Amino acid sequence: MRKSVIAGNWKMHMTCAETRAFAATFRPLIAELPDDREVVIAPPFTAIPTLSRHLAGTGVAIAAQNVHWDEKGAYTGMISATMLAEHGVSHTIVGHSEPRKYFCESDEQINLRARTAQRHGLIPILCVGESLDQREAGETERVIHRQIEQGLEDVDPGQLIVAYEPIWAIGTGKTCPAQEANRVCALIRGWVGHGDVIVQYGGSVNPATIDDLMAQSDIDGVLVGGASLDAEGFARIANYQVPARV
Ligand code: 13P
Repeated sequence: MRKSVIAGNWKMHMTCAETRAFAATFRPLIAELPDDREVVIAPPFTAIPTLSRHLAGTGVAIAAQNVHWDEKGAYTGMISATMLAEHGVSHTIVGHSEPRKYFCESDEQINLRARTAQRHGLIPILCVGESLDQREAGETERVIHRQIEQGLEDVDPGQLIVAYEPIWAIGTGKTCPAQEANRVCALIRGWVGHGDVIVQYGGSVNPATIDDLMAQSDIDGVLVGGASLDAEGFARIANYQVPARV
């Protein structure tokens, strides 16, 4: 039985002071989470130690938002897996559509990041997803299949999370309809070729859409941007409720 993974990606939000306030509100609200789920938060690098300290003992895992593929070197602005592991980080996002778009990240680079993460014991959360133009041109499956194939070369599918994040749903308030998200997540699981891989959905997830998404058979969790900045809202997402399966 796959556990679900509810993850928050804070992107370039949250100072240490804001992180402390978030943790104080969030902590009691997730005290009674059912054990069929895990919560992961990816704060900006500067807030990692603060979040880790203030959520210690809750079981919430800390993720990085990206990782470089080299151990050390002349890479201004980058961070290594060893530096992250030293702070108790257990997961890292790779291949998010924002660095793909703004920093021209290629599938080859994303693959190097995922492999490096695994070598250092970090679980990569590989993001894949099509743009609106690609969807309208009927290219959704081809684009995602390529991202999976190239991004996961020599990556252990047993230590991996894949997040289906259609670009047109990110930050737009347009959540992908749950059945369609489920269809693509099932395709992704097939392409990864490992029945136990966790496949998340991401894109405008919020407290009003979470229960419907989590009721789907092939959606094992979510990667939440904007709605993860609000401690009460994100706690509601983590406490999603699905009707008992009969
Ligand atoms: P939003 O939830 O703000 O649409 O962002 C999704 C996302 O990019 C998570 O990685």
